[in-house]
Amino acid sequence: MLADDETAPGEEVPIMSKPLTIADLKTRARRRVPKMFFDYADSGSWTEETYRANEEDFAKVKLRQRVLVDMTNRSLATTMVGQETSMPVALAPTGLCGMQHADGEMLAAKAAEEFGVPFTLSTMSICSIEDVASVTSKPFWFQLYVMKDRDFINNLIDRAKAANCSALMLTLDLQILGQRHKDLRNGLSAPPKWTVHHGIQLATKPFWCMDMLRTKRRGFGNIVGHAKNVSDLSSLSSWTAEQFDPQLSWKDVAWIKERWGGKLILKGILDEEDARAAAESGADAIVVSNHGGRQLDGALSSISMLPRIVDAVGDKIEVHFDGGIRSGQDVLKAVALGARGTYIGRPYLYGLGAMGKAGVTTALEIIRKEMDVTMALCGKRDIHTVDRSVIAETRF
Ligand code: GLV
Repeated sequence: MLADDETAPGEEVPIMSKPLTIADLKTRARRRVPKMFFDYADSGSWTEETYRANEEDFAKVKLRQRVLVDMTNRSLATTMVGQETSMPVALAPTGLCGMQHADGEMLAAKAAEEFGVPFTLSTMSICSIEDVASVTSKPFWFQLYVMKDRDFINNLIDRAKAANCSALMLTLDLQILGQRHKDLRNGLSAPPKWTVHHGIQLATKPFWCMDMLRTKRRGFGNIVGHAKNVSDLSSLSSWTAEQFDPQLSWKDVAWIKERWGGKLILKGILDEEDARAAAESGADAIVVSNHGGRQLDGALSSISMLPRIVDAVGDKIEVHFDGGIRSGQDVLKAVALGARGTYIGRPYLYGLGAMGKAGVTTALEIIRKEMDVTMALCGKRDIHTVDRSVIAETRF
């Protein structure tokens, strides 16, 4: 068994105590995960202005401190698209999750199931839908990217149904890829190519390599063996350019909804006009999101757009949120501004990279504790009563 705090030879070994923050998990993940994969999770597009704004704008939302209010018997439990969750947090779909840690999607899905929160599997995952279904007993959610090969997409939807997935999340904001400089500089590929450059990155992370050698899951599990004419899957950017459908439209949302026939979540809404179209589409929820600052650089932060979108469509469709959450305080702020539920991506990937399944659980525990105490200090006992009244001011 490997210890949690393993470092590569020659790396500084700090005194490690139990991780207290998501930032602690990030520090540990950086130490354990090869640079190209750590950077893949950590990067935004171009200048990373929107990626930074997502995090920084949370500090512009100020909470109201209340006192002498009964704070016993608190509850964070709620529902997202009608499904129970122990707190308003789900694990976001993240590409290449299984490169942060061997079998990463299976470990994260198990951690989420035990914690009682939804897990969303990405189309661009390393473990397949069937792999994740084989280790979970409750339904998980599946995120869909739409490719030109419609047979493949129909088949993917049918595979998600067969695996008993209980919601389909259709991503709307990545039909072409925003450029991420770090990925290009690192020559990102999955599985890693054996160049000198990659060899050096991997050689400094022997424990990651040992785990990875023990699994057979090192490519894109949902795609390899299922999609026709896949020429170069190792390079995400060339594969996206070649396969993703740049003509995706609201008409596609209609047939996908019909083929799926279950709960449908539309992810990547950052504009009131798009939010209104999404509400008209008959979907069950939208996710206010700019793809973690990985697509349109220069876009507004997710949290600054959330209240505007809630005002536009909050009475017509369930509004979810992602982008920049690094604490339970951040989740509480998003809920206060109208999000029924939120998603964390990088926080759980840092946990996964740092400590495997235990790290995902740790990320969820950190966020739950921060949210619970913060809710009490705002004078609330039930997450359903958290609304804009807990906000002192917003400085967007
Ligand atoms: C995929 O979803 C990515 O943002 O790289």
